[in-house]
Amino acid sequence: MSYKWDLLALLVGLALIGYQVIMYIRTKVPIVMSPKKYIDTLLLDLKKDISTDLVVMEMGSAWANFSFAMEKMGVKNITAYELSPLHVVCCRLKAKYLQSKIIFKQEDFFQADISVAQLIYVFLVPSVVGRLWLKIKKECQPGTIMILLGHELSGEQYFRKIKTNPYKEKSTYFYFYKV
Ligand SMILES: C[S@@+](CC[C@H](N)C(=O)[O-])C[C@H]1O[C@@H](n2cnc3c(N)ncnc32)[C@H](O)[C@@H]1O
Repeated sequence: MSYKWDLLALLVGLALIGYQVIMYIRTKVPIVMSPKKYIDTLLLDLKKDISTDLVVMEMGSAWANFSFAMEKMGVKNITAYELSPLHVVCCRLKAKYLQSKIIFKQEDFFQADISVAQLIYVFLVPSVVGRLWLKIKKECQPGTIMILLGHELSGEQYFRKIKTNPYKEKSTYFYFYKV
């Protein structure tokens, strides 16, 4: 009997790995989450001067930790883009359970109308961020802010950076760029 459960667990594990590989081949971006602790640090900083009317977008949201945390802080207009159907379905179910108003779009953010965004959260790979930043600069209003986790944008100057872990001397950073 336990042999059957072991086999089932193995098959589910392999299916999930296979799913991630297929999504990676499609997007060239691994499905990795922003650690919740990092998001907590970021939001502690943002909550000082954030308006709850801000139009927020998360580009490639996976489990949408940033979007859910922003909504918890009172932000009302949040859209999360994600190509992985599995993640979108799970997030929509979570949103229903939490009575969340976040809009989850199973859509390529490169094809989306992002012109109304005022704050954009990004955790992707450098080549994809480079292309996305060009789109943001072309389509969004001056003043739109992109918060980027993990690496600097080549050829662009950030106006601010904050540590993901304030207690570590050698911490990674969130970088802030403005259109
Ligand atoms: C590194 S994960 C970050 C997830 C989440 N933003 C976070 O910080 O926890 C990047 C996500 O972007 C998604 N993605 C990559 N390219 C995309 C695209 N063009 N349109 C929509 N989603 C995309 C991937 O499927 C993946 O789930």
